[in-house]
Parts: sequence; C-alpha cells; structure tokens
Amino acid sequence: MPPATIRPVAIAVVGLGFGAEFIPIHQQHPHARCLAICQRSREKLDQIGTAYGIERRYQNYADVLNDPDIDAVHINTPIPDHGPMSIRALRAGKHVMCTVPMATSLEECKTIVDLVEQTGLRYMMAETVVYSREFLFVKHLADSGSLGKIQFVQASHQQDMDGWPDYWPGLPPMHYATHCVGPCLALERKDALEVSCFGSGRIRDDLVAAYGSPFAIESAHLKLRDSDVVARVIRSLFDTARQYRESFDVYGSKQSFEWQAVDGEEPILHTAKLSESQIPKRVPVPDYAHLLPEPIQRFTTHGVYDAGDHQHLSFTQGGGHGGSHPHLVHEFVSAIVTGRMPYPNARQSANWTCAGLLAHESALAGGMSVPLPEWTFSGKTPADKTPSDKTPSD
Ligand SMILES: NC(=O)c1ccc[n+]([C@@H]2O[C@H](COP(=O)([O-])OP(=O)(O)OC[C@H]3O[C@@H](n4cnc5c(N)ncnc54)[C@H](O)[C@@H]3O)[C@@H](O)[C@H]2O)c1
Repeated sequence: MPPATIRPVAIAVVGLGFGAEFIPIHQQHPHARCLAICQRSREKLDQIGTAYGIERRYQNYADVLNDPDIDAVHINTPIPDHGPMSIRALRAGKHVMCTVPMATSLEECKTIVDLVEQTGLRYMMAETVVYSREFLFVKHLADSGSLGKIQFVQASHQQDMDGWPDYWPGLPPMHYATHCVGPCLALERKDALEVSCFGSGRIRDDLVAAYGSPFAIESAHLKLRDSDVVARVIRSLFDTARQYRESFDVYGSKQSFEWQAVDGEEPILHTAKLSESQIPKRVPVPDYAHLLPEPIQRFTTHGVYDAGDHQHLSFTQGGGHGGSHPHLVHEFVSAIVTGRMPYPNARQSANWTCAGLLAHESALAGGMSVPLPEWTFSGKTPADKTPSDKTPSD
C-alpha cells in the first residue's frame, strides 16, 4: 500500500491515437495525474488538450523529456519509435510505460533492460491481453488449481492489416507477437527459453519487398524455462482471410479453457471425467473491476472520450481490450508508488518481444530452434506478483 501522503505520479501521454483512451484513466487514478500530452500535429493536440483540460501540450518529444515536473511517460507512438523513445526517456530519468511491442530489435530491448537495471526506474510494456478479463479469469482458474496440471497452452493473433499506412505493409507477423506470446508466458509466470517457427504461404511481392518477409502466417512453438509445458503461437497480418482473431487456450489435466475474441461468445470450459454432453460448457467471465481503485473501476466496461471525433464511444471490446486499460494504468502507477516491479517488467517485456523477433529469424532459417538470450530471463523478483493477486490498495 502506498504512503497516504504520496505525491501523484505526473504522467505525460505521448501519441494520442490509441493513447488518448488512457488520458481519463491517468487523470482519475488516485495516485496519478496526466500532467502533459504530446503528439505531432498542433490541431489534434489542442483538441484533445481542451477536451480533457490539459494545459501542458508538447509537439516535440524532447520537450517532454526536458520537463522536470514529469515523472513518467506513457508511449503510444508508431512501433518503430517504441524502442528509441523508451531509451531516451529512461536516459532522461523518466519511468516508462510503452504500448506493444517493446522494440523492433534485440539491441534496443537489451539497452532498455540495462538502463532499467542501472537506474532503478520502472519500465512496463502495456500488453493488453494479460490484463483482459478473459485472461484474469483463466489465470484465477489456473492459480486456484481448478485446471489441474497445465499441459499445453496456445494463442493466436490474426489481423488483416492490408491498407494500413507507414511501417505496417509487409511487417513480419512475429514482429508484433506479444498479444499471443504474452498470455502463454504470463499464465504460470514463465520465460520463453527457445523458439522454433515455420513460415507458411506467401504474401504479395510488393509486401514482401518492405521487410524481406514472405510469409502469410507464422506459427511458432516456444519451450518454457523451468517447465515441461510447450506453447504454440500463431500470427497473420496480410493476405489471409481472417479480419480479427485473438484466442487463448489452456489445456489442463482437470479442466481446459478455450477462448477466442468473437463478439458475444463466452469461453468454453471443458471438464474431464464427466459424461460426454457435460464436458464442454460456456462460462460467463466476471469483470475484475473490484481489483481497481474505485475512481477507475468504470473504465473496465465503459468507453472513454474519443477526441478524434468528439464522441463518447462504447467500445466493442468492453472498455477497451477486455477491460484491460485501467488495470494497465493501475499496475504501472502502483509499481512506481510502492517501489515494486510492474508486470511485465523490462526483462519480461524483452522476453515476450524477443520471442517474436527470434521466431521470425527461425522461420527465415527454416524452423531452426533459436535460444532466447539470458538477459531476458526474469528470475524471482517482486515482479512475480500476479495480476490476480492485486488488491485495490496496491
Ligand atoms: N491492444 C493494443 O495493445 C494496441 C491497440 C491499438 C494500438 N496499439 C499500439 O499503439 C501505437 C499507436 O497506434 P495508433 O493506432 O494510435 O497510431 P496512430 O498513428 O493513430 O497515432 C500515433 C500517435 O503518435 C504520435 N506521434 C508519432 N510520432 C511522434 C513523435 N515523434 N513525437 C510525438 N508524437 C508522435 C502521432 O502524432 C499520433 O498521435 C502503435 O504502436 C500500436 O501498435 C496497441
């Protein structure tokens, strides 16, 4: 529990597309405040600043880092900027929460891990899936022993990104793999030890040219460290007729859990040793707002102001990606004010991100097994605290 007189963490939200959804959550968290916002164009910056009553508005990221009143940055800029911007922020003495993935190279991930260990600052990759209500539910089932011995986990993230601008065309699927790698590793708090991946199919030549990545689908097996469990992850981004799918399946000796993000469909829980018709059952997933401080509980189920078109939106995901957004903010802020590590911390974020980056290397090498570097292994740290252990006063 933080000291009663704690000074709220002063946060700057950088990147105001997806990032704007988090502004009211930072504003209403009892131990945080959204002191500043930053994005490139003046018009949108002012539109959002006025909508949320934020006076400090920066168009230049360097000005955010030079502002001595800012404790932490929440980075939501395009993927190639995540690594360099996180590194600059840590060098400037700011705590960092950054949207996924952590970075686009092993070198950037290692620099972030080293900086966090040198400075004692907090770094958290804001992976939404591991704070979604479906994940919190299955983690609770696993932690309570209901599933029995975990035998296998698998996850997918398929998204048709055709027509998206800038850095997206031709992006290797496994370069953005944290939505499927994250839940597989977070369930029992394990690291990926090695990865083997195959590429399947072929995307259009103009897309291949961008990154030299020919595959329509990449599917990888991850061997987990200190575990007999293997995980399988599947990614696609182009020329595959699946508009959106996130899924997570956990196979246990007593019960198995199968979930995929399709509107209105509840996950299926399979229970062993029952009569055949009783084995599969759809189960309602509870909301985990009670784990949060009261002022931000409503953000698990309610949309927030979308400054893009000045509408109040009700997100189809239900409060944004399975209600994860307020949990992410709470985890990051709690880690800063209590002095513990967030989950995932820098090493864990690097392990999840590098598992994807190395999976792509493996696919290019015909499925060769590639070890994860040791500096991505988390060890037993305060970060081992699980999301479902959290209490509102954390
Ligand atoms: N579930 C998830 O975890 C999830 C969901 C959506 C988006 N994202 C991630 O969020 C990030 C942003 O996505 P988006 O759709 O909002 O993109 P976007 O292009 O709509 O917005 C990018 C924002 O970053 C700002 N920006 C870019 N370069 C900047 C710079 N140098 N300095 C300051 N600001 C800068 C832009 O002005 C803009 O506000 C991406 O990395 C995306 O992958 C994650």
